[in-house]
Amino acid sequence: MNNNISQEKLNEIRNSVDIVDVISSYISLIPKGKNLFGICPFHDDNSPSMSVSKDKQIYKCFSCGAKGNVFKFIEDYENISFIEAVKKCADLGGVELDLHFKSLVKDSNKYSALYDVYEDSLKFYHNILNTASGKEAREYLNKRSINDEIIKEFKIGLSLQDRSLLTKFLTKKGVTKENLIKSGLVIDNNYGLNDIYMDRIMFPLEDLQGRVVGFSGRIYNRKDTSKYINTKETEIFKKGELIYNYARSKEEVRNKGYVIVMEGFMDVIRAYTVGIKNCVAMMGTAVTKNQANILKKMAKEIYLCFDGDEAGAHATFSCIDELAKVGVIPKVIRLEENLDPDEYILKYGYDKFKEKIDNPINVMDFKLSYLKENKDISKSEELAKYVNNVIKELSKVNDDILKEITLKKLSIESGLDIDFLKERITEKEEPKEEIKKEVKDDKKLKGYEKAERNLVYYMLNSKGVIKIYNNRSVFLSNPKLRRLANEISAYYHKYGEISLADFLSYIESYPELNETTSEILDLNLSDEVDLKVIDDYIVTIKDNLFEMQIKKLQDEIKKITDIEKQKELASKIADLKIQKENM
Ligand code: UTP
Ligand code: MN
Repeated sequence: MNNNISQEKLNEIRNSVDIVDVISSYISLIPKGKNLFGICPFHDDNSPSMSVSKDKQIYKCFSCGAKGNVFKFIEDYENISFIEAVKKCADLGGVELDLHFKSLVKDSNKYSALYDVYEDSLKFYHNILNTASGKEAREYLNKRSINDEIIKEFKIGLSLQDRSLLTKFLTKKGVTKENLIKSGLVIDNNYGLNDIYMDRIMFPLEDLQGRVVGFSGRIYNRKDTSKYINTKETEIFKKGELIYNYARSKEEVRNKGYVIVMEGFMDVIRAYTVGIKNCVAMMGTAVTKNQANILKKMAKEIYLCFDGDEAGAHATFSCIDELAKVGVIPKVIRLEENLDPDEYILKYGYDKFKEKIDNPINVMDFKLSYLKENKDISKSEELAKYVNNVIKELSKVNDDILKEITLKKLSIESGLDIDFLKERITEKEEPKEEIKKEVKDDKKLKGYEKAERNLVYYMLNSKGVIKIYNNRSVFLSNPKLRRLANEISAYYHKYGEISLADFLSYIESYPELNETTSEILDLNLSDEVDLKVIDDYIVTIKDNLFEMQIKKLQDEIKKITDIEKQKELASKIADLKIQKENM
């Protein structure tokens, strides 16, 4: 956590940026009243549920409950550690960081040893490619029009036939046996520790932050059952979460406003060689929901440009459905002659490919032609099947205009009346899973419980309330709220100021307070502090405390028989009652 960075530094960094600017660089925000609103990137949001407060410098999603300050947003959006998010903010805000901080950033990652293994292996493989032993592989790459510049950019390398070159190299570097095996680059077999990759061209696989987390090795000079071998999945490499070229393309995707999704990473590399740099690929698997959500965050528009063959059409079809689940309707590019993007670009060149990209087709047109493929719709039976299939697909479409346009086309094609076709469409029931808000039902809370909770809310918003809390020695009966209130008070005491957004980074070091803090932030109370109301809270809280003490003594009296003792307790109760009245 942030134990090693001073709170002052954290506050300085947080104050060097405006949360509105930072979040706007990820999602678009529209002003509404005092706050700004956007589509929440942390759940399948359809309407803007996330509000960003310029005054408070925090964000909050009313649907899924995500909330926090600017650090938390970056941390969760980019899937990075807290320290890394702070570092990012400092870079944005132009705050200087010392070496100590920089080393913290590195150490903040518990898998840093594993990352180092891949980083070292990457350099190792990359160097070999440039040696005399790499001649044949270089020729292979050059024949595929992959020049030195691209080899460098994508950090392509080579493994040799030797069984233990990498193992020896890494061992010498001090990598433990455990990490060697964990990395998936080394195997412990009958011959001892051996390299997994031999005689393959090595393509590094990078995670969403651009760190190498594995490799894909391609054969180039011999026959083998598998063309590519990917590193096994590890804690930091999950195929279903990785998107090839994500980090490298992110900026360009943002500039262009759309991302092109391809099947193979060779296609992405090819497109890059002709200057089309907003492309990504999955790792040879169908798009997962996780990846669909990441793609959705990348750009407004998603273009699917899979291989031109039947399998590519099929993959396009299922990808459209997966994207629909997260509320995205992509556009489609289909390539002729069963070519994949790599082959298409090599055969027809940049201009023709660019023309394809600039004229994507909509999903329904794609589906119409896909469903018509290999069908003779002059035959009634096949026509019926085709119409039925299209109707089924139309039921999934949310866009009324697209529905109408497609219906018109289908009506002309089939000779069937448009109204007849329209009636066949079954309305799609909304598949939205309601996200339950965990806000405690207000009505179920007793008066003092509400008072304690609300008091803490106002302590977070005003130092005046913290002072009142201290001066009147308030004691909260709820231990979690008490802990939080005391932490707020301690923070104020130490720094002489309080801002909700700064306090949120302070509380990062106290994960046990997360839930309570989150509950407090969920409250929808007026931001104006009314001292009369605060006073009422305190009276309610103290009243309750007296009552609890009195009740405890009364219970005790019932249990004991000693008359003297009973008298003593009774007088204590009387005292408490007087104190309560005179409060
Ligand atoms: P393709 O077979 O379409 O590869 O597989 P490609 O892009 O055309 O590659 P080249 O041009 O022959 O070099 C698409 C993706 O499927 C995965 C890889 O991720 C590849 O990028 N794949 C393919 C494997 O994981 N293993 C294989 O044996 C083949
Ligand atoms: Mn290919």
